[in-house]
This record gives sequence, structure tokens and C-alpha cells, in this order.
Amino acid sequence: MSKLIRVGLIGPGTIADQQLIPSLASVPGCVFWSVLSRSAERGAFFALKHQAMSPSPAHTDLAAFLSDPELDAVIIASPDKAHAAQIIAAAQAGKHVFVEKPIATNAADAVKAVAACAAASVKLAVGYHLRFHAGHLEVAKLVHSGSLGKLHHMHVRWTFRAEPSDWRASEEMGRWWSLGAVGTHAIDLVRWLMIPSCGEIEDVRCITTNSVYGGPHDESAVVAMRFASGATAQIVTSVLYRSPRVIEILGESGDIHCRGTLGAHGSGQISVSGKPLEYTPTSPYAGELENFITAVRTGAAVAVDGEHGLANVIVLDRTSTN
Ligand SMILES: NC(=O)c1ccc[n+]([C@@H]2O[C@H](COP(=O)([O-])OP(=O)(O)OC[C@H]3O[C@@H](n4cnc5c(N)ncnc54)[C@H](OP(=O)(O)O)[C@@H]3O)[C@@H](O)[C@H]2O)c1
Repeated sequence: MSKLIRVGLIGPGTIADQQLIPSLASVPGCVFWSVLSRSAERGAFFALKHQAMSPSPAHTDLAAFLSDPELDAVIIASPDKAHAAQIIAAAQAGKHVFVEKPIATNAADAVKAVAACAAASVKLAVGYHLRFHAGHLEVAKLVHSGSLGKLHHMHVRWTFRAEPSDWRASEEMGRWWSLGAVGTHAIDLVRWLMIPSCGEIEDVRCITTNSVYGGPHDESAVVAMRFASGATAQIVTSVLYRSPRVIEILGESGDIHCRGTLGAHGSGQISVSGKPLEYTPTSPYAGELENFITAVRTGAAVAVDGEHGLANVIVLDRTSTN
């Protein structure tokens, strides 16, 4: 396919405004085309700010937004509980889909979303941008080539501060709070790095707390996992406190420590068995969107597809008591 891919956006909020749409501008072979907002004014402002190319770029109705025959693909960056229905609507309209994480808020909805994209033969990519962090890509090469020996344990801690006005904390639009915001990224990293040599996740246990704000979802969580090989992983997330963000991968003949690599920026320090790992930071958002657009243009597979999104939601489901 040689034509420019026209990309529309659902959910012109923080991540779209600060990362996704600015990054899309650096991806060859595509243009930002149109936007769906609940507010005509917000949509028009966002379209103008980011130079959407459609002659009528701002929409408030999903069906009208998707009925545009010029539109090829959509980025979905709305609250988590909206994702599955929007993926299905986009697929049924014949549009390729890039959806922010998590793909859905329960496994049954995730299965339906993946099936809708398969039935419509459209691409489905999921926004686990940390797989496109240049340092993490080097880490993955080392881990997957066996240079740490047999893997025994992986630890990810990612905490930050959020307010209970966050939609993630609500029953209406979120199912998980710290786990939906950052835990799902940690689960994806653990799956990506561990499963090839450790096999599938066989057991998941989770402790959550909500003792500060008392809302329906996790304020802090500790997730423990065991893989088929017997290796273990632990994920610590919280919206209550800041802490150094760390990834540790511990094998029988080496170890990798990442400090400050979790986030939007694509930087941070990485050491491999005590020696610094050199890499050139790049935008992980540009990387994931370039991968998606290339897949749409060439028919190649996306790096993080709906099956990865579904597997992640299955783990999230197993952390939940609600
Ligand atoms: N990969 C990453 O690094 C990363 C980082 C942050 C977020 N995310 C994901 O991106 C998605 C959006 O997160 P965000 O932080 O950008 O959220 P946000 O700032 O609240 O933006 C979400 C947008 O969705 C629209 N929306 C539609 N229905 C809504 C509702 N009922 N409540 C609130 N907003 C609604 C809103 O735009 P209108 O009001 O104009 O319709 C809102 O601006 C989430 O799935 C999140 O998990 C990913």
C-alpha cells in the first residue's frame, strides 16, 4: 500500500495530546486525520492544535466518525472501560486499530474485541510502548538469547501519585487503578521477557489495598507469579507514593537492573551484571506507532497484537476480586 494512512483519534486526552499524536507526526506514511470527542469544542481545539487533515476533522458521534470512507485507522486513547466496544465498532467499520492498554477490562470483552478485528481482517495493536524503549529492546535481546542463563526471578516496581478524581479510580470507567495505570505495563514486560524461556504463567496471587481513599479499586498492589519453569516474578504498583522505578531480571549466570526506564521518556540507566548498558534513547511512542503504521501499509504483523492484549487482561483478571 503506497497511499498515506489516515489516522483518527478516539479520546483526545493527556496521552494523546502529549505523546501519541505528536509522535504520530514523526511516523512516515501517515497523517493525523480526525478526532472523536464528547465535546465539539474540545474536538475542534484538538484538531486545530495537532493539524488534523480532514476537511471536517472533529466529531462527537462514533458512528459518523467511523463512517468516513477516507479514514483508514484509529487510535483509541479513551478510558479503559470504553476500549472493547470502540475496538469492535472500529473493526466493523473496516478500520485498523491501535488501542491503548489495557485492551479491555475483562477477558470476555477482550476475546470479543480480538475476534472482531480478526473477522474484519484489520490490524489490532496494543499500546505497550515500553517494548519499544531502546534500552529494553537491548535487554530483551540479552534475555532471549540466554545470556543470563536460566531465569529465576523478575521484579518490577512502578509507583506514582494520583488523585481519586482519576477516572481509573471509578467504577464507571476503570476496573483497576494502579494495576490499570502501570501494573498492566509491568505484566507485559514480565510476559515479554520471561515467557519465551520460562513458559506460561501458571499461578497468579495478588494483594491489593484501598485503605487511603477507600474506593472500589486497588491503590497499591503486590502481584506474585509463577511460571511453568518454576521461575517467579513480582510486581509492585501504587498510586500513593513515589519511588525509584525498577526492573530486575535475575538469572543463574547474570542479572539486569533497570532504574528509571519506566515512564514516557525512553531513557534511564541499565546495568548488565554490574556493567552499564549503552543505548541511544528514542521515543517509545514513535516506535510503537511506526510499527503499527508499517503493519497497516505492508500487511506485516504488529509487534504487540490483540493476543498479547488478551493475555495481559487474563492476568489482570486473576489479580481481581471484584
Ligand atoms: N501507554 C501509556 O504510556 C499510557 C499513559 C497514560 C494513559 N494511557 C492509556 O490511555 C488511555 C487514556 O488515558 P489518559 O491518561 O490520556 O486519560 P485522559 O487524559 O482522561 O483522556 C481520556 C479522554 O477520553 C475521553 N473520554 C471519553 N469518555 C470519557 C469518560 N467517560 N471519562 C473521561 N474521559 C472520557 C475524554 O476526551 P473528551 O472529553 O474530549 O471526549 C478524555 O480526554 C487509557 O486507556 C490509559 O490506560 C497509556
